[in-house]
Amino acid sequence: MSFTIAIDGPAAAGKGTLSRLIAGHYGFHHLDTGLTYRATAKALLDAGMPLDDEAVAAAQAERVELSGLDRSVLAAHGIGEAASKIAVMPRVRAALVEAQRRFAAREPGTVLDGRDIGTVVCPDAPVKLYVTASPEVRARRRYEEIVASGEPANFDRIFAEVRIRDERDMNRAESPLRPAEDAHLLDTSEMSIEAAFLAARSLIDAAL
Ligand code: C5P
Repeated sequence: MSFTIAIDGPAAAGKGTLSRLIAGHYGFHHLDTGLTYRATAKALLDAGMPLDDEAVAAAQAERVELSGLDRSVLAAHGIGEAASKIAVMPRVRAALVEAQRRFAAREPGTVLDGRDIGTVVCPDAPVKLYVTASPEVRARRRYEEIVASGEPANFDRIFAEVRIRDERDMNRAESPLRPAEDAHLLDTSEMSIEAAFLAARSLIDAAL
């Protein structure tokens, strides 16, 4: 049976980097489930379709191909915002969760990262991590990434955006962002990614 590692947490907590390191180390398949919401949102935006019509958005979600997902074309802030708007719709979530569960069953193992992996998508995963960091630290990391890429950035605006995204993801009725009861908490506010990776490995090695 496939071994699944569920990684959840808010935006910019470091879960993407951590997930890629873990998947590489164990030779597991990795799915960044945020991309499934982003790809659905981008297809709607590109087609000039509304973001508030659940039937239209769910039909689009059913067409998302997991193999074609690429963060570099889905990274824009506007796509993330649109993704978090359609992510409140139960029928959109049902379609994407079904595809994510099929992915999770791949052999020999999988790493899925998102907001509801340990609570909803893979509640039986043998290892669940909840990766978090303070809003200030997450906004600072986003800010530094943007500055390093040569783009202009405004810390106060990024900080406000982080708060708005948290608010929407944590307070929605459907699959809100929260740690599963059996998740291990990793607060990366004052922890390097290497230290988080080592902590994650010892938890995974104990469960393998
Ligand atoms: O992680 P990322 O910023 O790419 O996710 C974009 C949005 O998709 C999140 O803000 C969240 O609203 C939604 N999402 C979700 N459940 C997941 C992954 C992402 O609701 N498992």
